Amino acid sequence: MLDDIRKAAAEFDAALSRATSARALDELRVRYFGRKEGLIPGFFSRLKEVAREQKKDVGDALNKLRDRLEADLKEKSDRVAAEEAARREAREQIDVTLPARMPRLGHLHPITIVRREMEQIFREMGYSIDPGLEIETDWYNFEALNFTPDHPARDTQDTFFLDVTPYLLRTHTSNVQIRSMEKYEPPVKVLSCGRVFRRDEITMRRSPMFHQAEGFLVDKGIHIGHLRATLEHVVRRLFGSDSKMRMRPSFFPFTEPSAEVDMSCIFCRGAGCGTCSQTGWMEILGCGMIHPQVLRNVGIDPEEWSGFAFGMGLDRVAMLKFDIPNIRTLFENDLRVLSQF
Ligand code: PHE
Repeated sequence: MLDDIRKAAAEFDAALSRATSARALDELRVRYFGRKEGLIPGFFSRLKEVAREQKKDVGDALNKLRDRLEADLKEKSDRVAAEEAARREAREQIDVTLPARMPRLGHLHPITIVRREMEQIFREMGYSIDPGLEIETDWYNFEALNFTPDHPARDTQDTFFLDVTPYLLRTHTSNVQIRSMEKYEPPVKVLSCGRVFRRDEITMRRSPMFHQAEGFLVDKGIHIGHLRATLEHVVRRLFGSDSKMRMRPSFFPFTEPSAEVDMSCIFCRGAGCGTCSQTGWMEILGCGMIHPQVLRNVGIDPEEWSGFAFGMGLDRVAMLKFDIPNIRTLFENDLRVLSQF
């Protein structure tokens, strides 16, 4: 039996050095000290088979073995537990001094920035804001605005027609004039910013989809001086108080008289440069006094009421303000480009 005890001790030492986890150590403890099948309690119960004169030696050896194995097991269990705790702590450690991982913040598109600026300027002057409809009928986009079916002015505003007549994509925001005057009794003043569509060549400055801001006002005694003062205010607010503007006679079927408005080139301040083709001026909008026939088309008496209207390219304003040479830059949605503004 002494041989068995020595063998068990050697086996234990080998198993103990192999056991590196709390679980393996626990299994070892059960194998040697388990109450039912443990090796050590097994040896103790075999003690009664030992011859009387050997009993003391075997008993001593057994007690020593039990005490040593218990001590070794406890020592290694403590060490493994401490190591596991240290590992867990290292894994879960939080360095509160590390810089935070910030979420990537988005920001407004240049067109949105300019649109909101326009809306703010006109809200301050008491205008209502109405984006209007992008899908329109021929009546609201053309006819009510005095474009008769074969009017040559339609050629400059060729558009995309939907399969369902009479629907088309609006070519300008002037449709909002008609819809608003139908909805509200005068006096009315409305600003409308939104997308418009034309069958156009794609160039640096033209795109088949672009944005306009339409403003119009109908009241008693409105004349071209009100229009001019309003536009000067807008141009100064958008481009700075030293900006100048000029009106050139023009033609639109729905305004009479009509004008095109240029502003002093913001790059050369009027001296002449490449951007303004050496003229010192840049065209930014069309405008005029609302044609009496347009007022009649929506049941407003032109003898009693008069008004003005203008339409401005928002993309053009954004390109000027942010110095963007190509209109497509605005619509390609390349974040490397857009995040600059
Ligand atoms: N709708 C015209 C255009 O798109 C601009 C305009 C608006 C002109 C209002 C006069 C009055 O060209």
